[in-house]
Amino acid sequence: MKHDFDEKINRFNTHSLKWDGLEERFGIKDREVLPLWVADMDFKAPKCVIDVLVNRAKHGIFGYAGGYDSYYNAVIHWMKKRHNWNIKKEWIVFTPGVVPALNMLVKALTHPGDEVIIQTPIYPPFYNAIKNNGCHVVENPLKFDGTKYVMDLDDLYKKINSKVKLMILCSPHNPVGRVWKEEELKKLGEICIKHNILIIADEIHGDLIFKENKHIPFASISEDFAKNSIICTAPSKTFNIAGLETSNMIISNETIRKAFLRAREGCGISKPNVFGIEALKAAYTFGEEWLWELLNYLEENLNFLIKYIEEKIPKIKVIKPEGTYLVWLDCKDLTFNKKELEEFFMKNAKLILNQGHTYGNGGEGFVRINIACPRSILEEGLNRLRKAMDCL
Ligand SMILES: Cc1ncc(COP(=O)(O)O)c(C=O)c1O
Repeated sequence: MKHDFDEKINRFNTHSLKWDGLEERFGIKDREVLPLWVADMDFKAPKCVIDVLVNRAKHGIFGYAGGYDSYYNAVIHWMKKRHNWNIKKEWIVFTPGVVPALNMLVKALTHPGDEVIIQTPIYPPFYNAIKNNGCHVVENPLKFDGTKYVMDLDDLYKKINSKVKLMILCSPHNPVGRVWKEEELKKLGEICIKHNILIIADEIHGDLIFKENKHIPFASISEDFAKNSIICTAPSKTFNIAGLETSNMIISNETIRKAFLRAREGCGISKPNVFGIEALKAAYTFGEEWLWELLNYLEENLNFLIKYIEEKIPKIKVIKPEGTYLVWLDCKDLTFNKKELEEFFMKNAKLILNQGHTYGNGGEGFVRINIACPRSILEEGLNRLRKAMDCL
């Protein structure tokens, strides 16, 4: 059965960060603003997920979780089916979200004062995970080749020194939307192996890939790559269940895995929540058809946005993503400084988008729009932007 992605669902008063969190986050009380920012979707999760959660809720007892074999099997099955990646049960380490995992990983794998490389502009919690643990951020900015962002490996070479212990790779990349090609990952991985730099590959967006692109799990490239990496995975972005805080690190290297488990234990974390277990199992086992429908809808939304902006708001340039539902918009031709750009979107257009400068080096002059919403909402957002532009 087809899922109705056009259905508009009121998310106010559901403790939604995207909709209810605006006052807390931006000091905005106005309910007329349209939030197209944080990375969750305004679509219902697949029916198989909703059904299993309703049934679990009806059971009525919500004690501690245990007995995870079917959970691990669902993860193994999904990685094989979706990414042709063979993983073993003992490699899977549960975490209550990828951001907590990034923090615990940096803690486990570095000493204060060490350096950690990231490719900017980048998802802001990458910076925090490094700084929270007393390490220094080393920026390896992405380059724009005229149509897409690419890695700057010459710059990477220059930044490497004996203090660099870790790199956090975003694959696919948030916010620029690149789905890295195998060749790109290979070159990067070989440099890191040569210089003893471990790679944490955040692949949370790895299921959200547009046609003609392919997500390559970093650790699937070779045994050496697997040994030198930690792969962050989750059903959260894919199936819109981020609020259930259920993710998995795939770590084939036993020494790294043990170090990470110690760090996780040090935070008192040992078990997933019972709803997260059920949702993951249902999504990974029965959710693929829904995902294909979602990807079609997202790609149509993307094409809609590109056409609209090209025709009606040509001062803004769309950086076409190869995956994710996040689109990086180049607003540099508006010649606003960062405060003016933020105010223009919030006050003139009444749109909440993520401001590019929050993604660090290379982000200023850009905004990130989330297109995972019914097309009518996206159209409304674009109409607001066009009108605000017309009044400039
Ligand atoms: C690259 C990336 N990593 C992690 C997260 C968040 O992960 P979690 O909600 O599991 O902490 C996001 C959410 O936007 C993201 O884009």
